[in-house]
Amino acid sequence: MILTVEPAVSGLQGEIAPPGDKSISHRALIFSSLASGRSELSGLLESEDTLATLKACEQLGAVVERQPGRICITGTGGVLKAPAGGLLDMGNSGTAMRLLAGVLSGQSFDCTLSGDASLNSRPMRRIVLPLMQMGADISASEAGTAPLMIRACPGLHGIDYVSPVASAQIKSCVLLAGLFASGTTHVDEPHLSRDHTERMLPLFGVDLPSPRTVVGGSRLSACRFAVPADISSAVFMLAAAAMTPGSEVLVRQVGLNPTRTGFLRCIEAMGASLSVANPAAENTEPVGDLRLEYNGRLRAIDVPEALIPDMIDELPMLMALAATASGTTRIRGAAELRVKESDRIAVMANGLRKLGVELEEYPDGIDIRGGRVTGGRVDSAGDHRCAMSFAVLGQVASAPVAIGQAEYIATSYPGFTGDMHRLGARMYMESGS
Ligand code: S3P
Repeated sequence: MILTVEPAVSGLQGEIAPPGDKSISHRALIFSSLASGRSELSGLLESEDTLATLKACEQLGAVVERQPGRICITGTGGVLKAPAGGLLDMGNSGTAMRLLAGVLSGQSFDCTLSGDASLNSRPMRRIVLPLMQMGADISASEAGTAPLMIRACPGLHGIDYVSPVASAQIKSCVLLAGLFASGTTHVDEPHLSRDHTERMLPLFGVDLPSPRTVVGGSRLSACRFAVPADISSAVFMLAAAAMTPGSEVLVRQVGLNPTRTGFLRCIEAMGASLSVANPAAENTEPVGDLRLEYNGRLRAIDVPEALIPDMIDELPMLMALAATASGTTRIRGAAELRVKESDRIAVMANGLRKLGVELEEYPDGIDIRGGRVTGGRVDSAGDHRCAMSFAVLGQVASAPVAIGQAEYIATSYPGFTGDMHRLGARMYMESGS
């Protein structure tokens, strides 16, 4: 599908309630499925990625009831059943595959985890190695990619794992395997990655004796859980307002976990008029309302490397926003972007160049010179966040921007074009490639 975006003729105005947080939704589904009892989950993201997790949870024995405004899950009490055919399809979702690989490594049945072409080309050795250290019988392709073959396990043992990468998927994979292992399991990482697993496990009855540590054999119990709105989706609306003259946008009750707010700190440093109101806590996650008013004063910055893990999913949007700021924005220390749903540095660089943006690509980042953005045809390479970043940039292009493979937006934000329309943007999806 092609998404054609018309440049904005006036400011974007309005109030948006972005969909539920993707990372938290995956965890709520998996933890409820492992728990004993019936959990009530509200605010869940229903997108291609989280629906892949939901389907896998059902195949593993969880019972799912859909009710207005919530999904109830009767968990397995930790006794999972082998999925029919021994195969689970994780679609495009790295989180689903890596977290479930941790869970499945400690089970008494064989299971293969596979996904689409993008997911099956992403690095999996980063979880296979620690899981093997724990005693799992797991193998990937020679290139270290999925499908992952996980065989019945006679018993895992806990480890102290020092992850070379700040990755919540690695951390969560190892901690979830640790629940099915003997002894304790602890994970260290070079920078604290998003900590939703650690915040949520206690709500499901699992106490962590020290940070990033679980005790094998801990049991999960059902709970009532409300998922906050996804800051990774909210940033598209905020960035659209920051770059489009005359805009003012309010996004309500967005998750503001400090491991996720790097983008907000960055655009404030760039000069955007951002304010936070109504701070509250949803379960253990901080939330608040974000208001962004266009002020025409966006300037380039050197993005501090320490902020990169806290805004890893928002970097495509930051790159597009940098194309509208005065000066040259420098991003470094972001090599992880090359192994996301696409090589996000290359995909953004190619698309931005097609829209007349001057830039220089580096192995771990990019320099982007702000200036005039032209219309043109770009390819999202099937990456939801790149597609939405180009759609936002189309607001200030001098002519329409057409984005290829835009159907992948449904991976995380099926209501994206509807929400952009609500703010006054003009864009339409057509078949074609
Ligand atoms: C996620 C962790 C991050 C992030 C991904 C979601 C999670 O990946 O990019 O979109 O839910 O744990 P890494 O763990 O690979 O950094």
